[in-house]
Amino acid sequence: MKGIILAGGSGTRLYPCTISVSKQLLPIYDKPLIYYPLSMLMLAKIREVLIITTPQDNENFKKLLGDGSRIGMHFEYAVQDTPRGLADAFIIGEQFIGDDSVCLVLGDNVFYGAQMTDILGDAMRSIQNGGAAIFGCFMKNPQEFGVVEFDSNHKVISIEEKPRKPKSNYAVPGLYFYDNQVIEIAKHVQPSARGEIEISSVNEAYLQRNQLHVTLMTRGVTWFDTGSPKGMHKASGFVKTLQEMQGFYLSCIEEIAWRKHFIDDEQLRKCGEELEKTDYGKYLLSLLNNE
Ligand code: DAU
Repeated sequence: MKGIILAGGSGTRLYPCTISVSKQLLPIYDKPLIYYPLSMLMLAKIREVLIITTPQDNENFKKLLGDGSRIGMHFEYAVQDTPRGLADAFIIGEQFIGDDSVCLVLGDNVFYGAQMTDILGDAMRSIQNGGAAIFGCFMKNPQEFGVVEFDSNHKVISIEEKPRKPKSNYAVPGLYFYDNQVIEIAKHVQPSARGEIEISSVNEAYLQRNQLHVTLMTRGVTWFDTGSPKGMHKASGFVKTLQEMQGFYLSCIEEIAWRKHFIDDEQLRKCGEELEKTDYGKYLLSLLNNE
């Protein structure tokens, strides 16, 4: 399975912060926002990742993440010249995806939860024989998101993008698994009223084919859409509190790479030494000393 991080967009809701720099490069507490969605792909053991950015920010993402070999990953980059909609990721990524299945994660979504690896595994397994897997997250304000309605057997009944009257409280976070049909489906999506080719339309097409699976993110999972200053601040506060209380780092990509055996002790040591002057670097080195 391939991974795509969609990290373009205009970021206007975060102006003036994002006039000169992409939102996904801004910090959530002590690390760039893009580390958080990237860590989800790594937890799912997806090692080939396409990072889609705005034309002006492409070089900055390359400077931050390189070709991925430092953490045992393989990164490729592509540009989206205008924010045509989330489904555009599969059109831009067509060659990269090839004949494979694909996981799309939005570059501004932050997830945390001890069961995250299991939840990702469940979703991946649910599309082993084809189809699409989305998640449902109970929210007080579902109308601000894609909303999924399902029956008591978790069979999806409807999917709607930012409905005025949501049919359920379950919002669909920016993390999706698809089989290879997604490329053709995305190419046929018609732009919505806001002029975008919506991911909810892709999911609706899978629903029509009776191939849309939903996995619920239970109470133990926290999800932040960091699309506003408040959202970014909330996520930063959450990361800071948890890291300080529990002593381990959230979405530390070098640590995940090491724990998943993408890199060995020596490679982790090198990563730590590069950042030695920071708490982040010291944390990486401490992992080697503690275990
Ligand atoms: O965060 C989850 C929500 O993301 C879902 O519940 C919705 O169904 C989905 O449509 C999306 O809604 P948003 O209104 O939050 O999407 P937004 O336009 O903010 O874009 C999400 C991220 O994707 C953001 O970091 C910018 C980036 N983006 C967006 C578009 C439209 C791109 O890179 N390219 C694009 O063309």
